[in-house]
Amino acid sequence: MAKKHILVVPGDGIGAEVTTVGKQVLELIAQLFDHDFTYDEALIGHVAIEATGSPLPEETLTKMRSADAILFGAVGHPKYDNDPSAKVRPEQGLLQMRKELGLYANLRPIKLFDELLDASSIKPEILRGADILFFRELTGDVYFGKRERLDDGNTAYDTMIYSKYEVERIVRKAFEAARTRSKKLCSVDKANVLESSRLWREVVQALAPEYPDVTVEHQFIDAAAMLLIKDPKRFDVVVTGNLFGDILTDEASQIAGSMGMLASASIGDSTGVYEPIHGSAHDITGKGLANPLASVLSVALLLDISFGFKAEAQAVIDAVDAVLKAGYRTRDIANTTTSPDKILGTQQMGDQILQQLKG
Ligand code: NAD
Ligand code: IPM
Ligand code: MN
Repeated sequence: MAKKHILVVPGDGIGAEVTTVGKQVLELIAQLFDHDFTYDEALIGHVAIEATGSPLPEETLTKMRSADAILFGAVGHPKYDNDPSAKVRPEQGLLQMRKELGLYANLRPIKLFDELLDASSIKPEILRGADILFFRELTGDVYFGKRERLDDGNTAYDTMIYSKYEVERIVRKAFEAARTRSKKLCSVDKANVLESSRLWREVVQALAPEYPDVTVEHQFIDAAAMLLIKDPKRFDVVVTGNLFGDILTDEASQIAGSMGMLASASIGDSTGVYEPIHGSAHDITGKGLANPLASVLSVALLLDISFGFKAEAQAVIDAVDAVLKAGYRTRDIANTTTSPDKILGTQQMGDQILQQLKG
């Protein structure tokens, strides 16, 4: 019996709704595969600011450091989105967590379930077979560079900054992943304009000879954004910086059908964090409309990457596949042909997954 301690950090908005389902899946997996998982919960984001004044309280960070894995929901609140002058913001909690835990690699798999071919606005023949693994650098770039307001607040700057070692460690991870897949790596940058991108490209070029079995291509971010929709199948493993990766993967969610389908793993120096790529989605919060599958698929990544439980992870993915094959949909992945009795709310979709896992 494997003993593991999991910290659940629901955060804000639909974060709480989707991690509730994610945790239920973990509990059932523990029961079915005879593992001993223990759980704790911690605050982050807006709910943490309300309770403690800080978006990442010290207590949360301490709990994070001692967990074996973290299941994360989302942060964010319209109150701050509409007040650019707010000094304390929910997103600072997320960014500080990534920095403090050294989570420099954010893996975002874009896997289209065949049953969702018609959920996307992209033509099925362009989409069929698309399967991309993004490596988004997560602790550098313009997110963490020097920023300032000048000129009585009338001028502002942020600094896009990368050091060689930061690029090297994420690019190595991407090369290694490419080796286990179709041996193709695409590096995305803006080296025709940005100095930090020229450093990025130099590092990729310098590492390439160490991976002679991997074919490397470079794309500029603007062209990559276009090619992703024109011909998603031309990509396999993609490595890019923090900001470009953030934008490209929201775009890529349309290849998988919805933001509600995309899971991610943030890994690095210590405890791994598993989180949907979507945000707190206040437009649908509290309505039971959120698709919990991104959180369920994040659980699969957690089981696989942090615990090495491959069979357990596969069981979760197979359950998602089976439920989609049975025709069940949340509203975001439904279309005009979906029968209304197959359109489920968040917990109902979770229940279908649990039932499927029980067999
Ligand atoms: P969002 O991802 O929250 O929502 C974008 C759109 O996708 C919305 O229409 C939403 O309803 C829909 N959507 C998202 N997740 C869904 C799901 N599981 N099921 C069904 N539909 C879903 O992005 P946004 O609206 O740009 O941002 C809202 C807040 O979330 C902001 O405060 C932002 O800072 C924050 N945010 C947080 C994270 C995170 O915590 N990792 C990620 C992105 C945005
Ligand atoms: C994400 C989010 C965050 C990011 C925000 C909320 C800080 O968009 O996790 O993709 O930009 O990294
Ligand atoms: Mn994002």
